[in-house]
Amino acid sequence: MSTESSLPQHIAIIMDGNGRWAKKRFLPRTVGHVKGAAGVRRIVKACADRDIRYLTLFAFSTENWRRPPEEVSTLMDLFVQYLQKEMADMSSEGVRLRVIGDRSAFPADLQARIAAAEQATAHNTTLHLTVAANYGGQWDILQATRAWQTANPGCTLDDLHEADLAAHLSTADLPDPDLLIRTGGESRISNFLLWQCAYTELYFVDDYWPDFDEASLVKALTWFASRVRRFGRTDEQVAPAPTAAT
Ligand code: FPP
Repeated sequence: MSTESSLPQHIAIIMDGNGRWAKKRFLPRTVGHVKGAAGVRRIVKACADRDIRYLTLFAFSTENWRRPPEEVSTLMDLFVQYLQKEMADMSSEGVRLRVIGDRSAFPADLQARIAAAEQATAHNTTLHLTVAANYGGQWDILQATRAWQTANPGCTLDDLHEADLAAHLSTADLPDPDLLIRTGGESRISNFLLWQCAYTELYFVDDYWPDFDEASLVKALTWFASRVRRFGRTDEQVAPAPTAAT
């Protein structure tokens, strides 16, 4: 059993495999992304139903700009559509949306929709949905360091401690992820929440993102519940105290 709680408070997901899902069916990659976007709604609901409070999804990395322009454009359109179509329903279910990443590179209408959705859902507390878009873990650490320096002009880097940096990350008011799920068969974290995943349990699964459904989530949760989280301590320190023999 997990030593903290057998249910993760915060799940982060790298939604990989949309392109391969489509290729396997002789469909354009963009169809895989459309199918993948539909899967987002399903997983948000499955998490909310299980009282998981925080869900963070990697939708677009700082490196994804290198993809063909039509694919980048489809991903932007899907994001806009998602904000248009799903946010009203999700908001009524208590979902709070936040977007992390450098949004200044996005088209103006997308930036405006993101801001409006964040504002409209700001008071919701059932599920904190964070979408990482134009996000990179290295970018986040660098921007946090710069933000700290701006906030503390008289200080030098010798004054910078781990908690100071964490307080300026884009995830400053979220707990660190307990469980990171990556679909699509790769075993890497691809510049996602690098600082925040220091003690996160990493779960890699072969299913492509469009195939990752509620049953797949339950399997990941069962795996998580079997992990012993030591946070640097020994097995003996984290094992439950033996009960006295009667
Ligand atoms: C990785 O699959 C997936 C992405 C780069 C985009 C993820 C985006 C979505 C699921 C849809 C939009 C999201 C929201 C929140 C509305 P890949 O294309 O790298 O797949 P491959 O490795 O098989 O090529």
